[in-house]
Amino acid sequence: MHVLPVASGKGGVGKSLFASNIAIALAEAGKKVILADLDLGASNLHLILGIGAVKQGIGTFLTSSNLSFEDIIIDTDYKNLRFIPGDAEIPGMANLKTGQKTKLIRKLFTLDADFLILDLGAGTSFNTIDFFLSSSMGVIVTAPTLTSTLNAYLFLKNTVFRLMTSIFSKKSPAGMYLEKLRKEGTSLQKVYIPKLLERIKHDDPESYLKYQERMKNFHPMLILNMLENPKDAAKADKIRRSTKEYLGVDMEHLGVIYFDHYQEIALNSRLPVIKYKPECVLSQALYRIADKLIQKDDDRFFTPDIEGLKNSYITANMEAEIDFNVKAETMEEMLHSGALAEGDLIDTIKAQQYEITALKKENHFIKTQLSKAIEEGFTM
Ligand SMILES: Nc1ncnc2c1ncn2[C@@H]1O[C@H](COP(=O)(O)OP(=O)(O)O)[C@@H](O)[C@H]1O
Ligand SMILES: [Mg+2]
Repeated sequence: MHVLPVASGKGGVGKSLFASNIAIALAEAGKKVILADLDLGASNLHLILGIGAVKQGIGTFLTSSNLSFEDIIIDTDYKNLRFIPGDAEIPGMANLKTGQKTKLIRKLFTLDADFLILDLGAGTSFNTIDFFLSSSMGVIVTAPTLTSTLNAYLFLKNTVFRLMTSIFSKKSPAGMYLEKLRKEGTSLQKVYIPKLLERIKHDDPESYLKYQERMKNFHPMLILNMLENPKDAAKADKIRRSTKEYLGVDMEHLGVIYFDHYQEIALNSRLPVIKYKPECVLSQALYRIADKLIQKDDDRFFTPDIEGLKNSYITANMEAEIDFNVKAETMEEMLHSGALAEGDLIDTIKAQQYEITALKKENHFIKTQLSKAIEEGFTM
């Protein structure tokens, strides 16, 4: 099972929109998916899925002893997709005790699915960070704005720091040094990670090696949401440069998503956008990202090398250009509705977009069949 925690730093950047729609797209592609609302204290994922009031969820499970974990998992209107509600009604749920968190992670990890998607809360609480660290491949969603990218970066910095604290033993020189920083109330913003690591490497090579080993299993991926124009896509390159240089983390780029007015209309009609308008730019971007995840699933989620990571940014930048050109509804708004010929043109472009996705799926299917056949041929 691939666990995909979805985090951000700043709220309102599209985590829940991404988590819910990507879950549906993966389920549509035949993957068994479970979506969990871990934005405890501010759960709203059920509303995006069009599920009304939920009776019980993670909060009730953790606070009542006679509920089994299976009891809180509900079927959705979508084939292959099950849902675990959070709990908006239980105050204080945002601050799980360590025991509750461990129990929850253990329960989640024994579920039977191809993908487990965790919609996390905003911010850098230990809960959120620990859920993010529970998988080697968390997704960080950010908008192109300065505050949003900064918060994404700080989230990752907090995560790296938390990871250090959890792997260095308290009595090791590295562990003691971190404890000293904590006691002195040094703000994390001031800590320069490369220098800190250099110091640890020098004073405590054993801890340093442990850290290097752990980092081999830490491959967060980036989603840049709410683009307005292709220039916004360049923000991803900036984030990459900063996290690489200052945190030693090279993120793969999963893709860009434009701001799309269809999302609001979809929300008002209580349908996930991918169901409401599968051919709109937003839904198409989500399908494209789902395709990438399925491809990664087929490749057993191997980690791309530096060249592969670089290519993921080049691809995303290209996709930003393409999507901008096919932002058909923007064109539609600009052109007068009376222009029939232009209207036809728009419809054609939309239909083609749709067709491209269908073809991509077919292509993917054939590729899988082909590689299966080749594999069988080899073993015979
Ligand atoms: N690409 C997008 N286009 C249009 N609206 C979006 C887009 N992404 C997110 N939104 C809207 O922005 C708001 C915040 O999104 P949400 O997924 O709830 O963020 P988060 O879970 O990170 O707090 C919601 O109203 C959502 O519908
Ligand atoms: Mg949310």
